[in-house]
Amino acid sequence: MPDTGIPWEELTAAATAAMGRAYVPYSNYPVGAAALIDDGRIISGCNVENASYGLTLCAECALVSSLAMTGGGRIEAFSCVDGAGNTLMPCGRCRQLLYEFRAPGMVLMTVSGIRTIDEVLPDAFGPQHLA
Ligand code: THU
Repeated sequence: MPDTGIPWEELTAAATAAMGRAYVPYSNYPVGAAALIDDGRIISGCNVENASYGLTLCAECALVSSLAMTGGGRIEAFSCVDGAGNTLMPCGRCRQLLYEFRAPGMVLMTVSGIRTIDEVLPDAFGPQHLA
């Protein structure tokens, strides 16, 4: 793995700890996500399902809510794991959620290695279109 200066092990550990909090009685598919913020803090989130299945909140939803609730900031790096602790690719909707709060050059640990947010969500729609 290239030395990007990102504490990937710490991030993945935070994602794995968050995964342990997942509420997934319907899919039995726990997910944990963690992000390094530009002020140095690490925030995380887990998925929370609902008896009305379509209302399921992905782990990334919890993460961006926590980001706002704990002072905001920009995501420099992101890691997401499944129930086995293996790297998981964020779903399309969640890539959009993350894009909104990206720091310049934001990177993600993915199943194909470290990728930038622009690589996993090319030509993204974003706040710039509404300015
Ligand atoms: N899930 C996430 O939390 N994040 C993703 O990026 C992919 C999917 C959750 C939603 C649902 O609770 C479970 O994984 C199965 O789809």
